[in-house]
Amino acid sequence: MAPFRRENSDEAISQLRCISCGAACATAAPDFRCTTCGDLLEFNFVKWPEDPPALKRLWSQRKTLLKPLDQSGVWRFRELLPQIPEEHAITLREGNTPLYDLPRCAKISSVDTLQAKHQGMNPTASFKDTGMTFAASSAHQQGFRWVACASTGNTSASMAAYAARGNMQSLVLIPEGKISWGKLSQSLDYGALTCQLRTDFDGCVRILNELVRQKPVYLLNSVNPYRIEGQKTAAIELMEQLEWEPPHHIIVPGGNLGNSSAIGKALLEMHDLKLIDRLPKLSIIQAQGANPFYRTVKEFGGKKLESMTAHTQATAIQIGNPASWKKALRVLNETGGAVEEVSEVEIAESKAEIGADGIGCEPASAVTLAGLKKLRKSRFVKQNESVVLILTGHLLKDPDFTIKFHRGDLFAGTPDEQLTSQSARLQRCPVVLDANLGAVIATLEAAERKP
Ligand code: F0G
Repeated sequence: MAPFRRENSDEAISQLRCISCGAACATAAPDFRCTTCGDLLEFNFVKWPEDPPALKRLWSQRKTLLKPLDQSGVWRFRELLPQIPEEHAITLREGNTPLYDLPRCAKISSVDTLQAKHQGMNPTASFKDTGMTFAASSAHQQGFRWVACASTGNTSASMAAYAARGNMQSLVLIPEGKISWGKLSQSLDYGALTCQLRTDFDGCVRILNELVRQKPVYLLNSVNPYRIEGQKTAAIELMEQLEWEPPHHIIVPGGNLGNSSAIGKALLEMHDLKLIDRLPKLSIIQAQGANPFYRTVKEFGGKKLESMTAHTQATAIQIGNPASWKKALRVLNETGGAVEEVSEVEIAESKAEIGADGIGCEPASAVTLAGLKKLRKSRFVKQNESVVLILTGHLLKDPDFTIKFHRGDLFAGTPDEQLTSQSARLQRCPVVLDANLGAVIATLEAAERKP
């Protein structure tokens, strides 16, 4: 089957280049590092489509079509992605995620307009699917039988699903005891070979990098530049949902920093292409106990990565040595965004507040609201500026965290234990009663009397 776009031309439209030395790579090494200097690679587009209004019409029209690739919120934007022939595309109709108003959270953080793009509404319930559909398709195109990733749980769930759909085998390396059961259960059900290593996420990455140099296994972590290309579409779709009127601020969680790099890359490319006429500021928020990027920017002026051993109950972002820090730094600087760190208590409370707006998310996603509150305090975000939070994972990804928070034992035995009285107003502990109508009515009436 012919490639699905640029059908009339063999001309290269994108090129892999090293982000540091600029060397062009015809083919990528198994670890997706530049063979000259060892830094990361990214796609540069040498030929863009030329008619922005026509593109906007085309993308909008595709939403009404029945072809799987047109129904995908990633492949629908294929004019801004490298070429992968259609017969290799593996899609679960990812993307197409809702943009919600968060009225209560807006009030709490004192901004007039607050919205959340909920990437947890993807097929495997996290933002990873948008990058995975594209990178797994690239593995398929190259004829790999095995794909692999190191993960804090969401990448592995997503990879396992897409590998299964594409008839490939998947190998998951996860840190033992440091990922949520929900995420682990996904990779098991989707059929991955799942190895729980007695180390942390960064230790899993080190082993995986050695493995792909020795075995014909395709690396699906976000150092794979196809992942970044697919994840770009979240920002394109967001602009479409806002009728191409960019918000003042977009706020994302920062872990391995692939997502912020991808969203930033999309913003810069859309700006270059004149799809949008100004750049939103892209801000990146980390957990205080897993803040290597925050420290790199604040303490070292972005000159060198300050890696660390990471600790946070937001296990998705428990990462001490983020691979894409240079890419993230570039988009932070070019969009004029800020970097912030937030505490465990701030994360837990913000998560409950997003839940109370009827939306919900997993702990790592809630750093965005916690970060917004800090950015309002420092006046980096003004009250009348529009803000979009990127919620990266679904509430049901980590029910243990949620239940512990509402029962009041999330911080038991930690230094935050004495602080949790502040959280009491947000806690909704389940009430155990006899199966008796009178008891239920008494509980209802007591709840009504509460302020
Ligand atoms: N939010 C969630 C829910 C995540 O799962 C992750 C990363 C992030 C935010 C941070 O995104 O790494 O692109 O900066 N999860 C990875 C994983 C590391 O293995 O699932 P990032």
